[in-house]
Amino acid sequence: MNDLQPTKTAQTMPDAQTVLSVRHWDDRLFSFRVTRPASFRFRSGEFVMIGLPGENGRPILRAYSIASPFWDEELEFYSIKVPDGPLTSRLQKIEPGDQVIVKTKPTGTLVLDALLPGKRLWMLSTGTGVAPFASLMREPESYEKFDRVILTQTCRLNSELDYGADLARRLVEDPLVGEAAQEKFTRYATTTRETSDRMGRITDLIESGKLLEDLGVGDFGPEKDRVMICGSMGLNQDLKRILEARGFGEGANSRPGEYVVERAFVD
Ligand code: A2P
Repeated sequence: MNDLQPTKTAQTMPDAQTVLSVRHWDDRLFSFRVTRPASFRFRSGEFVMIGLPGENGRPILRAYSIASPFWDEELEFYSIKVPDGPLTSRLQKIEPGDQVIVKTKPTGTLVLDALLPGKRLWMLSTGTGVAPFASLMREPESYEKFDRVILTQTCRLNSELDYGADLARRLVEDPLVGEAAQEKFTRYATTTRETSDRMGRITDLIESGKLLEDLGVGDFGPEKDRVMICGSMGLNQDLKRILEARGFGEGANSRPGEYVVERAFVD
């Protein structure tokens, strides 16, 4: 017999979804998967408000990029743990079976619709800014629309790159995009405060020409390249300046352009 009665928690928590799995990447970062509301639609790269009930009964909500692609049966999120953060100090303790609030109004500019047609798709991220790209790198349209898909992620420490490394490793086995990704996808990861194979801020690596040289791209510009940016305020501003100096125009949902930008929300 199916018991269709809502659970007690679901009754007191509108928009509640059940936590299915949690993975702690280090003492500062974790990812988790929750059930997907039956009627929930979103475009790969968008974000939603998620959270937990607050002490006064009002929910504590923050914007989180959805890290799973639009076709996934579950929703994945990637988060930093802020010890005294109103939400993440508690969210980091969730376990399978717990409930979190997931609002069902997705939005955002890091979507393929906001970009004009081009040859190469660059997804430039720092820290948890990789989350929307975790969605877009598993989105079939990314590979239908572009000949090359390049994900860069810069973090202070090596361990902070583990989530992105794991995604890239699993990408080639993905039944939907694995083959296309094998041919078209490149991950380029760098650290800034710990020794690794590749070091440096992505801004410096672009301006010095090293990034393009490493990837064998000789003609970077608004004719062929489309760029998505997701990181700290400072990174976003610096990359905007670099791109606009090279003739790239910013896009939006209503007016596609050569690049789009969004802040990595949870900091
Ligand atoms: P850095 O270590 O040189 O500050 P954060 O943890 O502060 O959000 O930074 C995440 C990563 O983004 C770090 O590797 C950091 O480099 C880099 N970063 C921060 N601000 C900028 C910026 N304005 N331009 C380029 N990279 C940046």
